Amino acid sequence: MSSQYQTISSLPHHVGETVRVRGWVAHLRSSGKVAFIVVRDGSGTLQCVVVQKVVGEAGWTTFHALTLETSVEIEGEVRADARAPGGVEVGVTNMIVLGESPSDYPIQPKEHGIDFLLDHRHLWLRSPRQVAIARVRAEIEQALNDFFYEREFVRVDTPILTQAIGERSGLFATEYFDEGNAYLAQTGQLYGEAAAAALGKIYTFGPTFRAEKSKTRRHLTEFWMLEPEMAFHDSADSMRLQEEMIEYVVRRCVERRSTELALLERDITKLEAIRAPFPRIDYSDAVTTLQKKGSEVKWGDDLGAEDESLLVADYDRPIFVMNYPKEAKAFYMKENPADPRTVLCSDMLAPEGYGEIIGGSQREDDYDRMVQRIKDEGLPLEAYDWYLDLRRYGTFVHSGFGLGLERAVAWICGIPHIREAIAFPRTMYRLRP
Ligand code: 4AD
Ligand code: MG
Repeated sequence: MSSQYQTISSLPHHVGETVRVRGWVAHLRSSGKVAFIVVRDGSGTLQCVVVQKVVGEAGWTTFHALTLETSVEIEGEVRADARAPGGVEVGVTNMIVLGESPSDYPIQPKEHGIDFLLDHRHLWLRSPRQVAIARVRAEIEQALNDFFYEREFVRVDTPILTQAIGERSGLFATEYFDEGNAYLAQTGQLYGEAAAAALGKIYTFGPTFRAEKSKTRRHLTEFWMLEPEMAFHDSADSMRLQEEMIEYVVRRCVERRSTELALLERDITKLEAIRAPFPRIDYSDAVTTLQKKGSEVKWGDDLGAEDESLLVADYDRPIFVMNYPKEAKAFYMKENPADPRTVLCSDMLAPEGYGEIIGGSQREDDYDRMVQRIKDEGLPLEAYDWYLDLRRYGTFVHSGFGLGLERAVAWICGIPHIREAIAFPRTMYRLRP
């Protein structure tokens, strides 16, 4: 067996040549003395045509013994064929089984229930829809990294084992030697703020954890979050950056992942409409609008998923809801000088009912107010002494935000549930595979 082989996606450059391809059998079909193997290798899918006369008795026998998901090496000539996926097919001259696959492969071409599929997530990942989602996700991550690199942000990696609590939602605790409990990070933000005082403009991008007993389409217990933090930026500066970032990422996916989005049957026109600036709505006005639409929301409440959907229904692009009541938001947000009942924050709500994809705010930069907020929230002051140092030594206006990666992936892919937006989802009921 030669170590020379071509990826399926490269085959249009090899029309007329004899190549070797390695991959897995995705589909088998035969009619008389001609048979077809559809092979996938992660880069694409390829129709391979097996003619009995060409491959001989031994080859024909090999073909008939093939099963779904067998890994194979196929040798043959690349031919242009407008009807074939990718525009080429291969006329097989030789094939070798690399790894057999017993005929009990769990995922068959029929409807499976979601629990069955999630139990077999390690195999389900091979299906075309899941491959498309994974590729869009990777494009989004790359686009985000490029966006911030181009703007001279420094990526900083923050710890996952932490002592201080960042958000109100539930915590995963684990014993940490003689130091008491460590908590899995709910956010990298507090560390990001320290890094912003060192580097100016930074972002963190990593897994975050919430022990939330939520069984919604939008909640995972482990999700990835991108969190920029910018020195000398106020809330309005941060919002401009957010809309620019979202426009950039969506455009990148439309330009470079059109094949995957088409496979997912995503309505591209909806993505093409995503252009900055995005509408900005004050929380108080949002409550009034929602009440007119029949919601029971009261001033002071955080907005629920249904309220968010009601609000965005009137728009074809994301919207910002700004200046929430203090009680509804985290301790670190800066009081709004224009209305001290509220804080300088904004949530970005995605269109089509995908809800909050970004939460951001200007940070409280006043030492005494921050101490008060920590106390008011009943948080242990000792755990925040280092965080308070940022207000002690050269305090600075700064803002930042967190983009939930899986929610962005679900929205851009147009998939109804966040659990397909990550390779191995962690939810309240799922730690396996
Ligand atoms: O609004 P959140 O809780 O904000 C923060 O964590 C801030 N520290 C961010 C910052 O200012 N640096 O979370 C930010 C985003 C949400 O808008 C949502 O997209 C996502 O993270 N998110 C979740 N995604 C999946 N599952 C969950 N349980 C999520 N909780 C939040
Ligand atoms: Mg939030």
